[in-house]
Amino acid sequence: MDQEILTQQAGGIFTIQMNRPEKKNAISQKMYASMAQGLRTADQDDSIRVVILRGTQNLFTSGNDIRDFQTRSSGTGRSGPSASSLFFDAFLALRKPLIAAVQGYAIGIGTTMLLHCDLVYAGRSAVFSLPFVNLGLCPEFGSSFILPNLAGHHRASELLLLGERFSPEQAREVGIVNQVLDDAVLMDKVMEVAASLARKSPAALMATKKLLKGHSAQQIREAIKADGEVFVALLAGAQAQEAFEAFANKRAPDFSKF
Ligand code: COA
Repeated sequence: MDQEILTQQAGGIFTIQMNRPEKKNAISQKMYASMAQGLRTADQDDSIRVVILRGTQNLFTSGNDIRDFQTRSSGTGRSGPSASSLFFDAFLALRKPLIAAVQGYAIGIGTTMLLHCDLVYAGRSAVFSLPFVNLGLCPEFGSSFILPNLAGHHRASELLLLGERFSPEQAREVGIVNQVLDDAVLMDKVMEVAASLARKSPAALMATKKLLKGHSAQQIREAIKADGEVFVALLAGAQAQEAFEAFANKRAPDFSKF
């Protein structure tokens, strides 16, 4: 494991922590690979009963590393499946309960991945956003299917077309978050829930998760594929390039020329 992804195992609870605060926990391909490895370990090790995904204090993640997007769209590093797709595979394959603890920014994939978690707890500091359109991109990882199912077409459109930030309370209303708590007690609550799950029958937990996810699993896989194809095409386009350059130069993108 690299230092930008920390893991910890105690009492049947496996914690994966994003730890790149100087880049607001932006997720690089290396970090995706480490998280994929962590999820596979958690799935295979019988002593692990539940997984927690968290960021650093006051910061979940600012999403995919935008510089990696630029590298990928320029064609470098395109041999074989990307580390992000291996991460998504491991995420979907995980049979054990996955709890997310969110504080601070949960942007882009930071919000998208919550749609695939089993339980999500957010501190009042949490800030969510799905800014793909603002980056010349589209929804990813099946969110074009999951979000309208959760929130209805109009609220999903609001979040995905406008790409504005939304609060933990809004995230709870939409169905992305189970409970909003004071940041000071968030991790205590998450550890309490994880410990409670870790004491339950692992066979019953895994069977229940499989049944809960089973009915929509095929549709979600198809949506992930469809989102991914459009996403990759847009990533290579001039409009996304404009957005990435704007981010690198700390200016607003200008789409008026397209
Ligand atoms: N990818 C790459 N680098 C990122 C990043 C990302 N997603 N998010 C933050 N960083 C980097 C910044 O470029 C900056 O690097 P620098 O110190 O070398 O200039 C550093 O992290 C600190 O970020 P900064 O923007 O200065 O912090 P802030 O507190 O002013 O703003 C955010 C924090 C998260 C609001 C802002 O960084 C942001 O909007 N990031 C992009 C989020 C995004 O669009 N993600 C979606 C990807 S699909």
